[in-house]
Amino acid sequence: MSFETTPIAAHGGTLVSRVIAGEEHPAALELAAALPSLTVDPRAVADLELIATGAYSPLSGFMGLADYQRVLHEMRLANGLPWSLPITLRVADPRRVRETVALQASDGRTVALLEVREVFTHSKEEEAHLAYGTTDPKHPGVAQLYSQGDFLVGGDIRLLGRTTPPFPELALDPADTRRAFAERGWRTVVGFQTRNPVHRAHEYIQKAALETVDGLLLHPLLGPTKDDDVPAAVRVKSYRVLLERYYPQDRVLLAGFPAAMRYAGPREAVFHALVRKNYGCTHFIVGRDHAGVGNYYGTYDAQRIFERFAPGELGIQTICFEHTFYCQRCGGMASPKTCPHDAESHVTLSGTKVRELLRSGTLPPPEFSRPEVGQVLADGLREVVVA
Ligand code: ADX
Repeated sequence: MSFETTPIAAHGGTLVSRVIAGEEHPAALELAAALPSLTVDPRAVADLELIATGAYSPLSGFMGLADYQRVLHEMRLANGLPWSLPITLRVADPRRVRETVALQASDGRTVALLEVREVFTHSKEEEAHLAYGTTDPKHPGVAQLYSQGDFLVGGDIRLLGRTTPPFPELALDPADTRRAFAERGWRTVVGFQTRNPVHRAHEYIQKAALETVDGLLLHPLLGPTKDDDVPAAVRVKSYRVLLERYYPQDRVLLAGFPAAMRYAGPREAVFHALVRKNYGCTHFIVGRDHAGVGNYYGTYDAQRIFERFAPGELGIQTICFEHTFYCQRCGGMASPKTCPHDAESHVTLSGTKVRELLRSGTLPPPEFSRPEVGQVLADGLREVVVA
């Protein structure tokens, strides 16, 4: 069965493929060896793979000035198609940038060829302000941007080498998830982005959404995150335990999303939705402070931003949830929409509080996190602290 049988089209109509494989591969590697090379960081390597496998369709490379400017100012590519975050390659020294360059990972592995179309500069402060809504260097996404080079290199890429995925069985490209959905006969699939363990609130909104669609793609982000986020290996263990005990196996697909986290809040929510459309999802969950960090964004800004697009324009339907919690008086999960009781009856814990509890060997209350999940997290975080 081919992935074209799923009902949803990739963003822009065609699932991009920029992977060099088969007979072409040895010659391309030979060509790369003779070209000037640029070493790129793990975030860029992740973007290269995501572009090449179609996760960022319709992008076929790093953005040039026209796309970059319009994305920043209007959340659209130069051709008018919605797109919310710049996908760029920044370098400190443009002197090695020629017509075609070989891009290498920090271990010296050749990852891709980049056909350079343009090299340009642009104010990082303006990018920070427009994409992240702040120029504060303490914002992790802004800090990352400020740490990068001043020159942006735009042009199409072709992927030569895949990274060995840390969790091979979760390494599903958009073509793979589309095929998996088709094989399961799912016509509607809701995507769930997370950079956290799945707590009861996450489980509740996933299952509430699943009540109305055929399948759930649990799609944790497994690329670079900020240091105090729970490490991917611990999270993956916790997802497995949870799925095994509490989810119907034939309704859920667990796969890794290898991108870096940007913490860009509302703009990243739109980006996350469009990318999940490329993975074959028809629906996408946006809850409280999606992709947020600190107090940079309003609780529901990441939901409201979708109103800036005409209905149907994004080609993926958001399913929005208010802040959910366990309510002791209701005796179940609820939200301000469904619960009449006051905050004292609600079990809510901040990420910092949960980490504090876990590091001291105390499991969060079962109303907040399934005990099996809490145990995996406590064990995992203890190992990290000891290491
Ligand atoms: S994110 O940075 O990947 O968005 P997180 O893993 O915390 O962070 O959230 C995953 C999704 O669940 C997001 O859509 C977020 O808005 C939603 N979410 C997290 N916690 C809650 C909650 N208590 N109530 C409603 N939605 C939530």
